Amino acid sequence: MSESPNNAGWISRLLAAPKNSLAKTLLVPLIVSLLSAVLVAGAAISLRPQYQLNQEHNRQQNILAAADLLESGKSTEVLFGQVEARVVDLSTGDYATDIDLAMLESAQRSRDPSMRVSVPKELDAAVIKERSRYAVVYLLYETDRLKLIILPVYGYGLWSTMYGYVALEADANTIVGLRFYQHGETPGLGGEIDNPKWQKLWRGKKIYGTSAEPLIEVAKGIVARANDGSDAYQVDGITGATLTGHGVTNLLRYWLGAHGFGPFLQKLRANDETIQ
Ligand SMILES: Cc1cc2nc3c(=O)[nH]c(=O)nc-3n(C[C@H](O)[C@H](O)[C@H](O)COP(=O)(O)O)c2cc1C
Repeated sequence: MSESPNNAGWISRLLAAPKNSLAKTLLVPLIVSLLSAVLVAGAAISLRPQYQLNQEHNRQQNILAAADLLESGKSTEVLFGQVEARVVDLSTGDYATDIDLAMLESAQRSRDPSMRVSVPKELDAAVIKERSRYAVVYLLYETDRLKLIILPVYGYGLWSTMYGYVALEADANTIVGLRFYQHGETPGLGGEIDNPKWQKLWRGKKIYGTSAEPLIEVAKGIVARANDGSDAYQVDGITGATLTGHGVTNLLRYWLGAHGFGPFLQKLRANDETIQ
């Protein structure tokens, strides 16, 4: 492509201009900014696959951590390989037959409206407004017997939506662990939901009493031993973070309740063979 005489004149005039001319003073930072923008954009694009891999690794680690399945010296991939992912239709509590994991992930990425339902205000304890019709549950079997159930949960705390996993024993009623892998609560206050000492308090806590309504909650302050057994459903509150604690209670009660995984868990609890 030949340069037009006008362009050539403009370029040679610029090159001939003194170093401290206005044109050269503006041109240098402009070129540096353009080059930096190209470099940053290039790095972001080339690192994206690695970023997605790291995110997936982190998610798998949290699923394993919630279920207390992490073992030092064993890779996350190997340990996660034992876990079976299945898609559940939340309205019936059955395993979905018309949609697989890849289809669900693609629908969730595109937020396909036909795959979403709104959460009625009176049921929306987790403050999520809408959710996917289907959810992925993670199951661990030991010699063909269900051993652990791991469920994704999320909901609003004080400042942010908190995303995590809750792991249950095969009775679909006893908690093994709760882990949040993403939230924006204040470090040292609501952020203490990541404190291993607090995380340990969940082990062995019960979700349901005699009805299908979840009773599990984060208490205000330390849980006192109760003669009526109500302490089995309570976990100590975090000092100075009562509001994040309420958020944790609310999101668990939503996701373990009738509009969340309730129907699925009730079928497991009733040992309903049709679900297996
Ligand atoms: C800057 C700032 C950040 C806070 N972050 C949190 C938080 O992440 N979670 C929370 O529950 N409370 C947080 N609080 C405190 C709440 O406003 C509220 O006082 C607290 O939840 C009440 O808990 P308590 O009854 O245990 O004191 C924060 C307060 C301030 C001033």
